[in-house]
Amino acid sequence: MNQQKIILDTDPGGDDIFALLWLLSLVKQGFVELIAVTTAQGNVGANVTFNCASQVLALTGFAGIELGKGVIFDATEIGDAAYIHGIDGVGGLAETLPQVLHDYAAARYSDDLIIEKLNAFPGEIIVIAIAPLTNLAAAETKSPGILKKAKEIIIMGGAFQVPGNVTSHAEFNIAFNVEAAQTVFNSRNDIVVLPLDVTNQVILTHVMVQEMTLINPTNITGKFIVELTDFLTQASLTYRQTEGKSGFLVHDAATIAYLFYPETLFLRRAKVEIETQGRLTKGQTIFDGRHVTKSDANSWVALQVDAANLLASLIEDLKVLLIDEN
Ligand code: BDR
Ligand code: CA
Repeated sequence: MNQQKIILDTDPGGDDIFALLWLLSLVKQGFVELIAVTTAQGNVGANVTFNCASQVLALTGFAGIELGKGVIFDATEIGDAAYIHGIDGVGGLAETLPQVLHDYAAARYSDDLIIEKLNAFPGEIIVIAIAPLTNLAAAETKSPGILKKAKEIIIMGGAFQVPGNVTSHAEFNIAFNVEAAQTVFNSRNDIVVLPLDVTNQVILTHVMVQEMTLINPTNITGKFIVELTDFLTQASLTYRQTEGKSGFLVHDAATIAYLFYPETLFLRRAKVEIETQGRLTKGQTIFDGRHVTKSDANSWVALQVDAANLLASLIEDLKVLLIDEN
């Protein structure tokens, strides 16, 4: 089987954990070789996202996967998102998870890990970035042209024809570090973008994950998934993210769907630009929707999603993680 080499750049974070678990299921099924998980500062601090990723890897039997620690970015005007994800990044469930097995102090920085791996496997690794783009931009700044060595770069971020989620116009992953976003979008002309336009429609519910656990009701990963879903659902209702529907937006998982279930998404070609200055619009992602000649597109932007089939695929793959090894 042709295994796809992947680096996941992530700031767990509840929806990040679902993207990571989906990837780990695909590793277990033989579709993916997860080269490294590069954690990032974002939803919570860099040390917290690192520990959180380590605990999820330990929970699922993948503690051997290399983990990078996030490059620190001090200048953000956007605070973290602990109000959605919990101060431990995992809805207060960190204490219920296995111990952190990776050593934060000794770990490599995520930008160095990205540079090393892309140089080791030029043209072979897909980078999935589901956090503020600080690590990727730092790698590009340290080693200009390095991001072109990725086979593909897939980003969850931006809001084009819908409101933002941290300001009226800006989405979190872009607004957190606008210069980093600009660096990444300038790095190549085939960036794949999964914005709020599609992820706002992808609502994972208690009923869906509860049904999933029936495959092995005593499995601890299943129990964790249900508890995390319930925490995120409460936060999402409080912050009115789901139009009152009882569930949560599993934004980051849309990147995995793009790669392995591309029939669930419809993308358009565009030149994406990042507003880095605007008093009211800083962090906005913009493309020119007019029917005028365009010669400088840099991205593929998802604007339509078959949410039912995306969620069904996520649930069926997560079930694989719940089956005990003999
Ligand atoms: C993005 O921001 C984060 O809070 C989520 O994990 C996701 O990556 C959604 O705007
Ligand atoms: Ca994220």
